[in-house]
Amino acid sequence: MKNQSMKICMFAILTFVLVWFLQHEGVNATRGMQQRGGSRLLKETFYPRYGETFPNALPYRKTSTIFNVLSFGAKGDGTSDDTKAFEGAWLAACKLEASTMVVPKGSVFLIKPISFSGPNCESNIVFQLDGTIIAPKRSGSWESGLLQWLEFTKLNGITIRGSGVIDGQGSGWWSESSGTKPTALRFYGSSDVTVTGITIQNSQQTHLKFDNCQSVQVFGVTVSSPGDSPNTDGIHLQNSQDVTIHSTKLACGDDCVSIQTGCSGVNIQNVDCGPGHGISIGSLGKDNTRACVSNITVRDTKIHDTMTGVRIKTWQVINS
Ligand SMILES: *[C@@H]1O[C@H](CO)[C@@H](O)[C@H](O)[C@H]1NC(C)=O
Repeated sequence: MKNQSMKICMFAILTFVLVWFLQHEGVNATRGMQQRGGSRLLKETFYPRYGETFPNALPYRKTSTIFNVLSFGAKGDGTSDDTKAFEGAWLAACKLEASTMVVPKGSVFLIKPISFSGPNCESNIVFQLDGTIIAPKRSGSWESGLLQWLEFTKLNGITIRGSGVIDGQGSGWWSESSGTKPTALRFYGSSDVTVTGITIQNSQQTHLKFDNCQSVQVFGVTVSSPGDSPNTDGIHLQNSQDVTIHSTKLACGDDCVSIQTGCSGVNIQNVDCGPGHGISIGSLGKDNTRACVSNITVRDTKIHDTMTGVRIKTWQVINS
């Protein structure tokens, strides 16, 4: 074709199915979840297949060596900078296969931008998050142009699990109209990635991002930020394959899930989306680039209080 006006290729989108739950039960359940004390209802609504043990009762591996951040000097008082202690615990955990780094319950850890970097790490490390991790509030202490706050890179087998909270304290960023804002939790170049049980809230921008990852599982996760917080995508996928997101509640100010170029084999199931902008493929094809996304399935999903439901967003071709 001489005129390659469509440089965007979206082939083999095998299933892109949305099941609306408009019957009375579903609507009532959704309302119930928004109320305080609705967690029991949430559990019944979202984790029916896992009974009472799901999602946070997964036992520690008996054989796993444990590295507790408190043993590495973390204060956990919400005001001391615990970044160094986290770095120390990570370096120790990373040297042993299937070790566990523990962020214990009952403490609040203030952590500056940090990379849990893996090219020289052993595989199958568990990050057991039962406490709360908070970001520094927006101020001069942030370097400009930072792409993420918490980063896990180049790991083979990485699990974040537990009942803990990651809080970006992002409100100070939301009023800024321009400039790069960090993603709260980003995985890059990793395989066999699991995120389960935790809550990610009030991100500066995107809550949870996977870039260049293979075999990703997200379940029993809660994303929570106000519906009017700008660009706070729930989960952002890019160049990632074999991704399953299920039994997860995504409330945010932008796309609940955003699926970008290079993604294939994405399975989204039993997700509650709203408020937010729905579930989106794209935007694809910026600046006349070629973009491919394939084999995306969305099913058994509740979408409510959103700008749109499911959609594909593309950039228009610019003729020069
Ligand atoms: C589509 O993706 C699913 C995972 O969501 C995978 O199991 C399946 O093999 C993929 N199908 C093709 C044709 O690639």
